[in-house]
Amino acid sequence: MRLFIAIGLTDEMKDSIEAVQDKLRAQRIRGNYTVRENMHLTLAFIGEFNDPDRVLEVMENVRFKPFTLKMNHIGTFPDVWWAGLEDSEELTALVKSLRHELAEAGIPFDKKKFTPHITMLRKRVDPDRNEAGLNIDPTQMTVDHFSLMLSTRGKNGMIYTELGRVES
Ligand code: 2AM
Repeated sequence: MRLFIAIGLTDEMKDSIEAVQDKLRAQRIRGNYTVRENMHLTLAFIGEFNDPDRVLEVMENVRFKPFTLKMNHIGTFPDVWWAGLEDSEELTALVKSLRHELAEAGIPFDKKKFTPHITMLRKRVDPDRNEAGLNIDPTQMTVDHFSLMLSTRGKNGMIYTELGRVES
Protein backbone atom coordinates (compact mmCIF):
# COMPACT_ATOMS: atom_id res chain seq x y z
CA MET A 1 0.00 0.00 0.00
CA ARG A 2 1.25 3.48 -0.80
CA LEU A 3 0.93 5.58 2.36
CA PHE A 4 1.61 9.13 3.46
CA ILE A 5 0.79 11.30 6.47
CA ALA A 6 -0.82 14.67 5.89
CA ILE A 7 -2.90 17.56 7.17
CA GLY A 8 -6.21 18.01 5.36
CA LEU A 9 -7.25 21.53 4.39
CA THR A 10 -10.36 23.57 5.15
CA ASP A 11 -12.81 24.54 2.41
CA GLU A 12 -11.66 28.14 2.76
CA MET A 13 -8.05 27.18 2.04
CA LYS A 14 -9.10 25.06 -0.89
CA ASP A 15 -11.11 28.02 -2.24
CA SER A 16 -7.97 30.23 -2.11
CA ILE A 17 -5.93 27.58 -3.87
CA GLU A 18 -8.57 27.10 -6.56
CA ALA A 19 -8.59 30.86 -7.17
CA VAL A 20 -4.83 30.72 -7.84
CA GLN A 21 -5.27 27.66 -10.06
CA ASP A 22 -7.79 29.68 -12.08
CA LYS A 23 -5.18 32.44 -12.51
CA LEU A 24 -2.59 29.89 -13.62
CA ARG A 25 -5.05 28.45 -16.12
CA ALA A 26 -5.82 31.96 -17.34
CA GLN A 27 -2.08 32.35 -18.04
CA ARG A 28 -2.35 29.14 -20.06
CA ILE A 29 -0.01 27.31 -17.70
CA ARG A 30 -0.48 23.64 -18.40
CA GLY A 31 0.22 20.67 -16.16
CA ASN A 32 -1.47 18.35 -13.75
CA TYR A 33 -3.73 20.51 -11.53
CA THR A 34 -4.45 19.08 -8.06
CA VAL A 35 -8.17 18.44 -7.72
CA ARG A 36 -9.89 19.93 -4.69
CA GLU A 37 -10.42 16.64 -2.88
CA ASN A 38 -6.70 15.82 -3.14
CA MET A 39 -5.36 19.07 -1.67
CA HIS A 40 -3.30 18.47 1.48
CA LEU A 41 -0.05 19.25 3.28
CA THR A 42 2.23 16.21 3.43
CA LEU A 43 4.11 15.72 6.72
CA ALA A 44 5.82 12.43 5.86
CA PHE A 45 5.81 10.28 2.75
CA ILE A 46 6.02 6.59 3.66
CA GLY A 47 5.55 4.95 0.28
CA GLU A 48 5.01 1.18 0.04
CA PHE A 49 4.20 -0.25 3.48
CA ASN A 50 1.57 -2.86 4.24
CA ASP A 51 0.81 -2.31 7.92
CA PRO A 52 -1.29 0.86 8.24
CA ASP A 53 -2.45 -0.11 11.74
CA ARG A 54 1.15 -0.07 12.93
CA VAL A 55 1.63 3.38 11.41
CA LEU A 56 -1.50 4.65 13.17
CA GLU A 57 -0.27 3.20 16.45
CA VAL A 58 3.01 5.08 16.05
CA MET A 59 1.21 8.28 15.04
CA GLU A 60 -0.70 8.08 18.33
CA ASN A 61 2.60 8.66 20.18
CA VAL A 62 2.87 12.16 18.72
CA ARG A 63 1.56 14.79 21.13
CA PHE A 64 0.65 18.28 19.95
CA LYS A 65 -1.69 21.11 20.83
CA PRO A 66 -3.97 22.71 18.22
CA PHE A 67 -2.15 25.41 16.27
CA THR A 68 -2.75 27.89 13.48
CA LEU A 69 -1.47 27.44 9.94
CA LYS A 70 -1.35 30.48 7.68
CA MET A 71 -1.17 30.08 3.94
CA ASN A 72 0.13 33.32 2.45
CA HIS A 73 2.39 32.88 -0.56
CA ILE A 74 3.00 30.80 -3.64
CA GLY A 75 6.16 29.42 -5.14
CA THR A 76 7.65 26.87 -7.49
CA PHE A 77 9.88 23.83 -7.60
CA PRO A 78 11.29 22.95 -11.01
CA ASP A 79 8.10 21.14 -12.02
CA VAL A 80 5.59 22.18 -9.33
CA TRP A 81 3.54 25.25 -8.37
CA TRP A 82 2.76 25.23 -4.66
CA ALA A 83 0.98 27.28 -2.00
CA GLY A 84 3.23 28.14 0.92
CA LEU A 85 2.76 28.57 4.65
CA GLU A 86 4.06 31.11 7.08
CA ASP A 87 6.86 29.62 9.21
CA SER A 88 5.30 27.77 12.13
CA GLU A 89 7.28 26.44 15.07
CA GLU A 90 4.37 24.20 15.97
CA LEU A 91 4.29 22.64 12.50
CA THR A 92 8.05 22.10 12.56
CA ALA A 93 7.80 20.50 16.01
CA LEU A 94 4.93 18.24 14.90
CA VAL A 95 6.85 17.00 11.88
CA LYS A 96 10.03 16.50 13.90
CA SER A 97 8.19 14.47 16.52
CA LEU A 98 6.29 12.45 13.90
CA ARG A 99 9.44 11.61 11.95
CA HIS A 100 11.26 10.72 15.17
CA GLU A 101 8.49 8.26 16.13
CA LEU A 102 8.45 6.72 12.63
CA ALA A 103 12.22 6.28 12.66
CA GLU A 104 12.19 4.76 16.16
CA ALA A 105 9.56 2.25 15.03
CA GLY A 106 11.51 1.36 11.89
CA ILE A 107 8.77 2.60 9.57
CA PRO A 108 10.34 3.77 6.31
CA PHE A 109 9.74 7.31 5.08
CA ASP A 110 11.29 9.81 2.71
CA LYS A 111 14.03 11.51 4.76
CA LYS A 112 14.29 14.54 2.48
CA LYS A 113 14.26 17.82 4.40
CA PHE A 114 10.71 18.95 5.20
CA THR A 115 9.76 21.83 2.92
CA PRO A 116 6.12 22.56 3.73
CA HIS A 117 4.15 23.07 0.53
CA ILE A 118 0.72 22.40 -0.88
CA THR A 119 1.00 21.23 -4.46
CA MET A 120 -1.40 23.11 -6.75
CA LEU A 121 0.00 21.95 -10.08
CA ARG A 122 2.61 19.38 -10.97
CA LYS A 123 4.41 18.57 -14.22
CA ARG A 124 4.14 22.25 -15.02
CA VAL A 125 4.96 23.45 -18.50
CA ASP A 126 5.57 27.19 -18.32
CA PRO A 127 9.09 28.16 -19.27
CA ASP A 128 10.07 31.77 -18.65
CA ARG A 129 6.88 32.85 -16.94
CA ASN A 130 6.92 35.91 -14.74
CA GLU A 131 5.90 34.47 -11.39
CA ALA A 132 5.83 37.78 -9.56
CA GLY A 133 2.39 38.76 -10.81
CA LEU A 134 0.60 36.02 -8.91
CA ASN A 135 -0.47 35.99 -5.30
CA ILE A 136 -2.84 34.09 -3.05
CA ASP A 137 -5.58 35.31 -0.70
CA PRO A 138 -4.11 34.69 2.77
CA THR A 139 -6.09 32.10 4.70
CA GLN A 140 -5.63 30.44 8.02
CA MET A 141 -6.88 27.31 9.73
CA THR A 142 -6.57 25.54 13.06
CA VAL A 143 -4.82 22.19 12.90
CA ASP A 144 -6.29 19.82 15.44
CA HIS A 145 -5.59 16.49 13.73
CA PHE A 146 -3.42 14.84 11.12
CA SER A 147 -4.17 11.82 8.99
CA LEU A 148 -2.80 8.62 7.54
CA MET A 149 -3.59 8.62 3.83
CA LEU A 150 -3.73 5.82 1.26
CA SER A 151 -2.80 6.72 -2.30
CA THR A 152 -4.23 4.61 -5.13
CA ARG A 153 -4.27 5.13 -8.86
CA GLY A 154 -7.78 5.75 -10.21
CA LYS A 155 -8.98 5.96 -13.80
CA ASN A 156 -8.74 9.75 -13.70
CA GLY A 157 -5.68 10.21 -11.52
CA MET A 158 -4.65 9.54 -7.95
CA ILE A 159 -7.24 8.89 -5.25
CA TYR A 160 -6.33 9.74 -1.65
CA THR A 161 -8.30 8.03 1.12
CA GLU A 162 -8.03 8.80 4.83
CA LEU A 163 -7.36 5.56 6.75
CA GLY A 164 -7.29 7.13 10.20
CA ARG A 165 -6.40 10.23 12.11
CA VAL A 166 -4.79 11.45 15.31
CA GLU A 167 -6.46 14.28 17.21
CA SER A 168 -4.57 16.84 19.26
P1 2AM B 1 4.24 16.54 -3.72
O1 2AM B 1 2.89 17.18 -3.60
O2 2AM B 1 5.35 17.51 -3.58
O3 2AM B 1 4.36 15.67 -4.95
C1 2AM B 1 1.43 11.92 -2.06
O4 2AM B 1 2.24 11.50 -3.11
C2 2AM B 1 2.05 13.07 -1.34
O5 2AM B 1 3.33 12.70 -0.82
C3 2AM B 1 2.28 14.31 -2.19
O6 2AM B 1 1.92 15.42 -1.39
C4 2AM B 1 3.76 14.31 -2.44
O7 2AM B 1 4.37 15.57 -2.49
C5 2AM B 1 4.29 13.67 -1.19
N1 2AM B 1 5.62 13.11 -1.35
C6 2AM B 1 6.70 13.43 -0.61
N2 2AM B 1 7.76 12.71 -0.96
C7 2AM B 1 7.36 11.91 -1.96
C8 2AM B 1 8.02 10.93 -2.76
N3 2AM B 1 9.32 10.60 -2.56
N4 2AM B 1 7.30 10.32 -3.73
C9 2AM B 1 5.99 10.64 -3.92
N5 2AM B 1 5.31 11.55 -3.19
C10 2AM B 1 5.99 12.18 -2.22
